[in-house]
Amino acid sequence: MSRTIQLDETIEVQRPVREVFAYISEFSRIEEWDPAVARGVRLTEGPLGVGSQFRIDMKAGFSLRYSVVEWKPGRRLLMTVESKPFTAREEIFFKRTADGTQVRYVATFDFVAPLARLAKKFPGVMDRVGKSAMAGMKRALEDRFDPPRATWGTALADKLVVPGMLSFTRFGYRSARRHWNPVSAYLRDRHIVITGATSGLGLATAEALAARGAELTLVARDASKARLVAQNLERRFGNKQVHVEIAELSMLEEVRALAARLLQKGKAIDVLVNNAGALINPREETAEGLEKSFALLLMSPYLLTSHLRPLLKKAAGDHGVARVVNVLSGGMYTQKIHVDDLQSKQGTYSGSVAYARAKRGLMILTEEWARRWAKDDIVVNAMHPGWADTPGVVVALPEFHRVTERVLRTPEEGADTIVWLAAATEAGKISGEFWLDRRPHAKHFLPGTRETPTERRELLKALAAFA
Ligand SMILES: NC(=O)c1ccc[n+]([C@@H]2O[C@H](COP(=O)([O-])OP(=O)(O)OC[C@H]3O[C@@H](n4cnc5c(N)ncnc54)[C@H](OP(=O)(O)O)[C@@H]3O)[C@@H](O)[C@H]2O)c1
Repeated sequence: MSRTIQLDETIEVQRPVREVFAYISEFSRIEEWDPAVARGVRLTEGPLGVGSQFRIDMKAGFSLRYSVVEWKPGRRLLMTVESKPFTAREEIFFKRTADGTQVRYVATFDFVAPLARLAKKFPGVMDRVGKSAMAGMKRALEDRFDPPRATWGTALADKLVVPGMLSFTRFGYRSARRHWNPVSAYLRDRHIVITGATSGLGLATAEALAARGAELTLVARDASKARLVAQNLERRFGNKQVHVEIAELSMLEEVRALAARLLQKGKAIDVLVNNAGALINPREETAEGLEKSFALLLMSPYLLTSHLRPLLKKAAGDHGVARVVNVLSGGMYTQKIHVDDLQSKQGTYSGSVAYARAKRGLMILTEEWARRWAKDDIVVNAMHPGWADTPGVVVALPEFHRVTERVLRTPEEGADTIVWLAAATEAGKISGEFWLDRRPHAKHFLPGTRETPTERRELLKALAAFA
């Protein structure tokens, strides 16, 4: 016994066809708009098109395999669907309208016994599933979400050590993601610069943004590693717009030269992600005579971001907003800025303290730039990734890694908020905040870590003098 059910649903949205097609055709993101889906995974490599395949895990406990059979960008998509309970043929038509795009979804499902009997008994179920998926698609494409605000729950967790720490683990990520909105922003005309893109969070960020079609400039210190990453991004996602720039970022001379090269090229920068970092033990000085944590984690993003401001301003002129994302650390909570000892010369050196103080300094810069650059439509935000299992953590904190390994986030989970701050439309409407899992969090929770207005001014003066 078998049973055939047909669905035919249409929505209209005020978005250009190319944006609508780009979002819907990436079926690995279906979980953002179809409430019946738990997870979508792209199974094939290369540019999307005929032959692309996806695995869609349904909340009901079974999986679907989607295969693209016809691919007409901006006009039509045809897919076959294989699963245990049914097979299907799904067709999506895209049509330009006076103020946007019409999307028509036509599907034929063939249920086999014993589900055929159930499908016959409850004919409205598939209809409801189809309607709620299309409503979700419309909501995702309309993309009218307010920037998230701190909730009483996050504010309380920030004050309490145990819930605060728990939120750093993968359990924190999994609990937070239940409340997230879809991100349908179109990135194919955006240029994003990422430092430290050869490993860990920077690499995961580059992968997520390359998958969304953004043009990327990867800043790395190791040329062969960087070229390999660029090649992999092209192979996996068909993204040919990946450039590489080489700079040892603890050397100010190299940071200046990098900025000069980017300025010379003149390509507007929609997003700058200051991610490169390391926890340095024992104390080290660079060939320029600067303590290395200070040079890499504070001076380098200070110089690079200040120098690249004209290119950020240019992108803001083209697209309405440009963004800076500073990757900090929860370790920042333990320290206050010490303007009189930026290079950790006093007392016994601790890599963790030098690291946390530099991150605290970058938080202060985030707030200052957010305020000063608002008039140029440049938003500046900081985030921390929680605790993520990256090569950086294995090398710098082997004991911490051994103890926490089972609760650490994946690099993709740690990088999620970087990607969201870089991409989401609503993230472009808020500035000067400190984010974890797409929510703003407190910048201080211990007494005594807050700097005075004089200390802020002194920090800016000191950084300008070093620069
Ligand atoms: N993982 C976590 O749990 C965690 C927690 C809090 C904050 N963070 C922050 O997240 C950021 C990324 O860390 P990660 O965990 O992904 O570490 P990672 O795996 O070690 O990656 C660090 C990246 O920065 C690059 N880098 C390091 N020193 C550099 C230098 N002197 N010049 C140029 N590039 C340099 C590395 O290049 P190579 O590939 O050549 O080494 C690599 O691409 C850092 O800012 C870190 O402080 C991470």
